[in-house]
Amino acid sequence: MFLVLCLDTNLRYTTPPKRPTNLHGKEGDAMTDTLTIARPDDWHLHFRDGDLLAETVPATANVFGRAIVMPNLNPPVNTVAQAAEYRERIMAQVPAGVSFEPLMVLYLTDSTPVEEVERAANSDFVHAFKLYPAGATTNSASGVTDPGRITHLYEAMEKHDVPLLVHGEVTDADIDIFDREKVFIDRYLNTIRSQFPALRIVFEHVTTSEGVNFVREANALTAATVTPQHLLMNRNDLLVGGVRPHNYCLPILKRRQHQEAIQKAVIDGHSRFFLGTDSAPHARNKKEAACGCAGCYSARAALPLYATFLEQHNALDKLEGFASHFGADFYRLPRHTDTVTLQRKPWDVPAVIDAAGEPVVPFFAGEQLPWSLG
Ligand code: DOR
Ligand code: ZN
Repeated sequence: MFLVLCLDTNLRYTTPPKRPTNLHGKEGDAMTDTLTIARPDDWHLHFRDGDLLAETVPATANVFGRAIVMPNLNPPVNTVAQAAEYRERIMAQVPAGVSFEPLMVLYLTDSTPVEEVERAANSDFVHAFKLYPAGATTNSASGVTDPGRITHLYEAMEKHDVPLLVHGEVTDADIDIFDREKVFIDRYLNTIRSQFPALRIVFEHVTTSEGVNFVREANALTAATVTPQHLLMNRNDLLVGGVRPHNYCLPILKRRQHQEAIQKAVIDGHSRFFLGTDSAPHARNKKEAACGCAGCYSARAALPLYATFLEQHNALDKLEGFASHFGADFYRLPRHTDTVTLQRKPWDVPAVIDAAGEPVVPFFAGEQLPWSLG
């Protein structure tokens, strides 16, 4: 029963796809098609720390050339010095022969010293600051209590040209969870955007039409990351037929009209919407619980999932920009010159992954995708 319901998503593979025209695919029968794109990057990722790195780092580095490494550890990564140590722990788990660059991010608090912004700008491995409103999500307890009160830090980021990455949700108990993104935009983001026009802002894991419109209408220094779950699912996939804890993430999945706004931005090939998986492992017993954790572990399935979605919308030619070009351009990093190849070969997403001895149920667990990696 569970499996049948889980298969009932927008990803059901129905009509044969139109061949992409401007990708480097090889003609052939359906089982031998390949799709080669410039190596992609993941512009929003949770590696965690400790023993889990042995699972999370290879899972990402085997596909993506770089990743924006979110700093919501416990305790969080607040300083350039802490980021340097965390970076070393990550690098120690990169498989031999694989080139991978973790792009470190610092976690903003109410007491982040303004000098930390300059230190970050002067380092060659810290690429952004992340604003977590306190209480918004996993390990955000020491986040910012009032995003309207750290304008001195936004000013410094603008001056030193360090991007601000935003978890755009208010956390007031009286604001409905489905409205939290919209209220954040109205209450804070519009003001930040207009007060600091030269600040690069990434609206992380956009989930609403208001978020999409905000990015579309804002200046060229404004972008958004798009997760597989917010692209492929809406709140029915979380709640209809029973609660699906493995589809629970924050910001929470929204109604279909919001999903469609996100889909349109990606299908349009809008250059300020790019790949950010928000892949975030939690042990199975922490997800399947009375008070379950938020996060979908999608690192391995993400690229085949994005490809499947785009192909279903006859937009497979948009994959390379979304996955491999737009984010690099926004972060002013070079596009990769090496490539990855997807094969049109059914791939069964594992039902469970052993992560440092803990079972983790990945996103789309047990389902078959039409594209696989290598
Ligand atoms: O679903 C989520 N999980 N959203 C976040 O913002 C954080 C992430 C995590 O770290 O588990
Ligand atoms: Zn995240």
